[in-house]
Amino acid sequence: MKLSPLYLITTLMLSPVSSFAADDTPIDQMMGAAKDMMQQGKDTAKEMGQSAKDMAQQGKDAAKEMSQSAKDMAEEAKQNADKVLKEAKETSESIRDEISQDFRAATIEQDAKSFKWTQSLIEEVAKGDPKKGETLAKQARCSKCHGDTGVSDEDDTPSIAGQIAAYSYKQLHDYKAKNRDDRDMLKKVKKLSNQDMIDISAWYATQKTEAMAGDKKGKKIPVLANKGDKKRFLIACDTCHDKDAMKRGFQTPIIEGQKPEHFVETMMAFKEGDRTNDHYKLMQNIASKLTEDEIKELAGYYAAKPMPE
Ligand code: HEC
Ligand code: HEC
Repeated sequence: MKLSPLYLITTLMLSPVSSFAADDTPIDQMMGAAKDMMQQGKDTAKEMGQSAKDMAQQGKDAAKEMSQSAKDMAEEAKQNADKVLKEAKETSESIRDEISQDFRAATIEQDAKSFKWTQSLIEEVAKGDPKKGETLAKQARCSKCHGDTGVSDEDDTPSIAGQIAAYSYKQLHDYKAKNRDDRDMLKKVKKLSNQDMIDISAWYATQKTEAMAGDKKGKKIPVLANKGDKKRFLIACDTCHDKDAMKRGFQTPIIEGQKPEHFVETMMAFKEGDRTNDHYKLMQNIASKLTEDEIKELAGYYAAKPMPE
């Protein structure tokens, strides 16, 4: 290119001093600036990329943390649930145990309360050994209250001589099982085994009773004793308490020759629900329909009646 001297002079005059110091032409300068800008843009882009990467990492970390804490929470919830479940299981188990214990206790109680005559028990009682029974009764000092042979001196203590063994045995069992309440008798039978009670009852059954005190002459037979009272649905006492042992069954006592005071006391106990060891509430039902005067009359009548042979 051919430069005119004028252009040169003008250019030299108008150019800033700096343009002389650097070799750069304005184009170079522009290029450089553009390059810088590009570099800057590149750096910025790089920076942005980095921070985007950082943010992504952070996001990832946060997500990881969140998922970890979610996992932890789930784990904790599971543990809590397990704990609750375990506790519930334990509680229900202990409730079940308690119930079954109560049930078992009630069943055992029931067994003691409900006396049952089984065939084998009837046979065992029938095989009672009177000899052993005599020794046992002496050792236990039953005579202190029931007399040497079972005929009581005291009016309020029952005579047990000549009594049916099965009845006496059942009463001893009932005192022991607390089905019949008497402090003295409980103290005595506590120390006796089942076999002891069978043998002792067998011995008293072999003993003869004495004729009881009482006015035999001119005594009318009370209607209740041999006829009963239909209006009150009362059957005669003798229907069961007959001298015929077969009619008595296994446990119906001989009441002839019984001490009158004991007779009245025990009948009043049946009447008032203080003696409840009779099967099917038999005697409780009968006694509840009787007046005290009727009971006293019957007591006197049976006391004076000799025990059957
Ligand atoms: C401290 C006095 C005393 C002694 C000792 C005693 N008993 Fe009794 N016994 C009584 C009294 C009182 C009754 C009535 C209690 C009642 O009303 O339940 C009775 C009731 C009985 C009965 C029930 C009689 C019935 O007709 O229902 C029998 C059986 C009996 N005793 C047997 C014995 C034997 C066996 C011994 C010894 C191991 C003995 N007793 C020791 C005072 C005694
Ligand atoms: C259906 C049968 C039956 C009739 C009826 C009956 N009894 Fe009894 N009695 C029994 C039985 C069974 C026992 C024994 C209960 C027990 O296991 O403790 C008994 C027990 C007794 C005793 C307790 C004896 C003692 O030594 O402690 C007396 C007293 C008695 N009866 C009186 C009477 C009188 C009085 C009548 C009539 C008003 C009567 N009974 C009617 C069945 C009967």
